[in-house]
Amino acid sequence: MKATLITGASGGIGEAFARRLAAEKHNLVLVARTEKKLIELCDELMLEHKIMAHYVALDLIDREATARLFNETEKHGFEIDWLINNAGFGSMDDFAKLELERELEMISLNVTTLVALTHRYLRKMRERRSGVIINVSSTASFQPVPFMATYAATKAFVTSFSEAIAEENRPFNIQVLALCPGPTDTNFFNVAHAEAFKMKGMQTPEAVVETALSAVKSRKSKVVSGWTNYVGSVFGAFLPNSLVTRVVGKALRGKVEEK
Ligand SMILES: NC(=O)c1ccc[n+]([C@@H]2O[C@H](COP(=O)([O-])OP(=O)(O)OC[C@H]3O[C@@H](n4cnc5c(N)ncnc54)[C@H](OP(=O)(O)O)[C@@H]3O)[C@@H](O)[C@H]2O)c1
Repeated sequence: MKATLITGASGGIGEAFARRLAAEKHNLVLVARTEKKLIELCDELMLEHKIMAHYVALDLIDREATARLFNETEKHGFEIDWLINNAGFGSMDDFAKLELERELEMISLNVTTLVALTHRYLRKMRERRSGVIINVSSTASFQPVPFMATYAATKAFVTSFSEAIAEENRPFNIQVLALCPGPTDTNFFNVAHAEAFKMKGMQTPEAVVETALSAVKSRKSKVVSGWTNYVGSVFGAFLPNSLVTRVVGKALRGKVEEK
């Protein structure tokens, strides 16, 4: 059975992807750690849209997690034809003050897990000569970000990696998209202990998903969600990193010291 696998589907952008794609009759495999939320979401989507929704409750930071997930989808006979690598988190503070273990876990989830899942499912997609992979990156991937140093660097990896493999896989009818949202109204800021950085006018997760699906339709390999985020990224590209980091650093230093 064909299915779409979404990591980080228990909330925020991942849940919005699940709801939107269920309405488009995708069968789903939903992954996150919060089992209760996944059970409720699967039950609701199966009932409402008459699709199949399977969940795997898993901590994707665990070393064996991607192998376990892959084996589980193989065992159930799922053909993962859409893979949405969405699970991720950030941290916000002076890097020297952040807990090292948590920073390493972030690299693990945002980068290592994403690469491993892409590799495992891409091979199957290549055999079938079709597939869609959406890697959720960020506008933070376009420049170094003081006080979000590790997070921005993980997302720089995601954007670069995704655009490169998008080109490699063009002849195989496999689309790879780097989805770059700006600030979005989800649990992200609470998890990052950055409630003070929440701002007015953030995008909704539903708007981010809409942008992603239009970009898939037009076969783009990278998309920035939100008009102001797009304009910011275009102007930002003309400025030297030394200037951008100085301005951002100055703006955030006060907020970080107040925390
Ligand atoms: N919100 C923003 O402003 C923003 C902007 C740009 C990019 N993004 C990116 O968008 C993606 C989704 O984030 P979001 O904003 O929707 O945040 P969110 O509401 O905090 O959702 C994060 C999701 O990832 C899952 N997750 C976290 N750690 C996990 C782990 N160890 N194993 C398995 N699943 C895990 C969470 O589920 P459990 O807790 O149940 O495991 C949750 O479903 C992330 O990659 C983030 O970097 C967000």
